[in-house]
Amino acid sequence: MDGKINILAIDTSCDETAAAVTRGTKILANIIWSQAALHAKFGGVMPALAQRMHRERIDWVIERAIKKSGIKTEEIGAVAVTAGPGLAIALEVGIAKAKELAEKWGKPLLGINHTEGHLLSPLARSKETRDADITSEEIFPAWGVVVSGGHTEIIAADKPGKYTVLAKTSDDALGEALDKAARMLGLGYPGGAILEKMARSGKKSAYPLPLPMARQGTTDWLSYSGLKTAMYRLIGSMGNDLSEQQICDLAASFQNRAFQHLERVVSAQIKKANNTSRRKYLLAGGGVIANIELRRRLRRIAKENNLRLLVPYSLKLTGDNAAMIGVAAAFKTAKLATDFTAIDRLPRWSIEEV
Ligand code: KG4
Ligand code: ZN
Repeated sequence: MDGKINILAIDTSCDETAAAVTRGTKILANIIWSQAALHAKFGGVMPALAQRMHRERIDWVIERAIKKSGIKTEEIGAVAVTAGPGLAIALEVGIAKAKELAEKWGKPLLGINHTEGHLLSPLARSKETRDADITSEEIFPAWGVVVSGGHTEIIAADKPGKYTVLAKTSDDALGEALDKAARMLGLGYPGGAILEKMARSGKKSAYPLPLPMARQGTTDWLSYSGLKTAMYRLIGSMGNDLSEQQICDLAASFQNRAFQHLERVVSAQIKKANNTSRRKYLLAGGGVIANIELRRRLRRIAKENNLRLLVPYSLKLTGDNAAMIGVAAAFKTAKLATDFTAIDRLPRWSIEEV
């Protein structure tokens, strides 16, 4: 035996109902039931609908995860659940189910921070790999970037559980900004992935969109509202019928500026400390890390600073999922709690408070 326990992990923080079984940083099963199509017609996530769908689907995703993992229910050693940040009434569903199962099985329960899950998602290993788990001693201290529909955070990760947020967005998250630009172009919701696809056939210098906050020189926070307004005005000035090529050019121009803004802040934060820093890795997670162009740009920053970029090995680990919650839990099995009442939903839980 390797001394590791099998963990059943659950995440219902937004619009994905997710369950996974993990062992250390190995993913034995990762089941995600996405509600995105149901929310699409509203152009955003409807919390009450998300809650209802989580309730309908949670048992099914848990059953499938356990079945697919190949382990028996009796072999599960702990339950981990996202306690926050996220939508309060959605979080509640996963927490209640996790408590119910932990109690029934007489196993400990861990409340995990969703942002920490995204941050540590690049450390996940596939079931098939022969590579040994990466240990926290090898990885930390490290830099981290979490970019999703709800987060844009640049993090100094000193060790598991000790994080400082160096910069974050003051308005929209990067994914949210991409989604809104996609909507302005009539590309549907959520639009980050389709915007990326259109951008590949477009010219990024086609339209003069502003680089956010470049004049102020600020590198402690990010803001996408000015870029969004500029995009809105630009599209408004172009009339009703945009050609396919115009849409591709607009997508490429917007994506370029949105990424450049992040790059500028990430670079500045790393450069500020790099001479004195022992950090060797840049960990990158969250839905937007699925984007090939963004990975390319972050890899360039990593190289310039003698760092290695680590991204999740599968696209099923970039968007919301429960496997990353199991991975984060593996680093804190020392904190196993049997007092379930201590775990409650924390809709605005910062990664600095874990
Ligand atoms: O991590 P995630 O599933 O949810 C949150 O925790 O917020 O991230 C979803 C976000 C959405 O904004 C979506 O448009 C974006 O990730 N996204 C992408 C791509 N795939 C998903 N953005 C850019 N390029 C992609 N390929
Ligand atoms: Zn997320």
